Amino acid sequence: MYPLIRNRRLRASESIRRLVRETVITPDDFLVPLFVVEGKGIKEEIPSMPNYYRLSLDNLEKETKELWKMGLCAVLLFVKVPDNLKDNKGAEALNAEGLMQRAIKTVKNACPDMLVMTDVALDPYSSYGHDGIVADGQILNDETSEVLAEMSVSHAQAGADFVAPSDMMDGRILTIREALEDEGYQNTGIMSYSAKYASAFYGPFRDALDSAPVDIANVPKDKKTYQMDFANRFEAIRETQMDIDEGADIVMVKPGLAYLDIVREIKNEVDVPVAVYQVSGEYAMLKAATEKGWLDHDAVMMEQLIAIKRAGANIIASYFAKDFIRVIG
Ligand code: PBG
Repeated sequence: MYPLIRNRRLRASESIRRLVRETVITPDDFLVPLFVVEGKGIKEEIPSMPNYYRLSLDNLEKETKELWKMGLCAVLLFVKVPDNLKDNKGAEALNAEGLMQRAIKTVKNACPDMLVMTDVALDPYSSYGHDGIVADGQILNDETSEVLAEMSVSHAQAGADFVAPSDMMDGRILTIREALEDEGYQNTGIMSYSAKYASAFYGPFRDALDSAPVDIANVPKDKKTYQMDFANRFEAIRETQMDIDEGADIVMVKPGLAYLDIVREIKNEVDVPVAVYQVSGEYAMLKAATEKGWLDHDAVMMEQLIAIKRAGANIIASYFAKDFIRVIG
């Protein structure tokens, strides 16, 4: 007796494997996160994110042109705000001449067709390192949503194509959508961080922006009262569905690799594009293992990116975008 069906026939050569491959990944799939700082001529490496940098606006301009030339078409902007501009309400976030607003214009001037998305949350601006306003040891929900809506309008005014609220306040997508419509920004999109978990994988990112919750009395030490419990799955679907009902154009699952079950469930449930954020800790882990000589960087990176796409991602926010371009040549 021999097996009649031999699955290995479809694996026998690279050509047949190419022919039957189910998942492909291209530069079009990537959203490139960029960290922006004040100053001139600055390109400082983030210690826990080897080969990833904070850029001043002049270098942001160069980087934008380089990314565009490489075939990448979308960036996600984050700013590192000087301590003296931080407060509890994130007032600086609304400054029309603030770093984010100038960064948006810098990218658009360098490359008008580069899609610009902006992070919307208070943490880089918060003296307490929280995504919302802190009062009596709590993060205020509705007051925070109002500020996020003003912040979104300010980003739209500066030229952002999409705002990306990453704060996890309840109802903020509707508040932001209404504010954008009221101000005439009906074409500004919203990519909602819908299923965002309270994750320890964000550590290197908080180093990059100096945005971790501060350790002082009556300020929560973590973000667990607004970001989701990583033990939960139904909640992710509920959160995502609500964001769509409130007007999100794109939804997101974050982090990536450890949450691909959630990505698949959401992909099966919803009919809007699903983004996945392969976060800073995921990047750091592979870079560290590679420095030790323990993993083959490019092979593991490609496997992880394909796995994210296979799970259902339409968009991948990833610090590996340039490494990916290098690998595909
Ligand atoms: C801020 C924000 C975070 C990330 C994206 N937006 C950090 C956090 O919620 O503490 C994390 C991204 C990463 O780790 O790469 N709201």
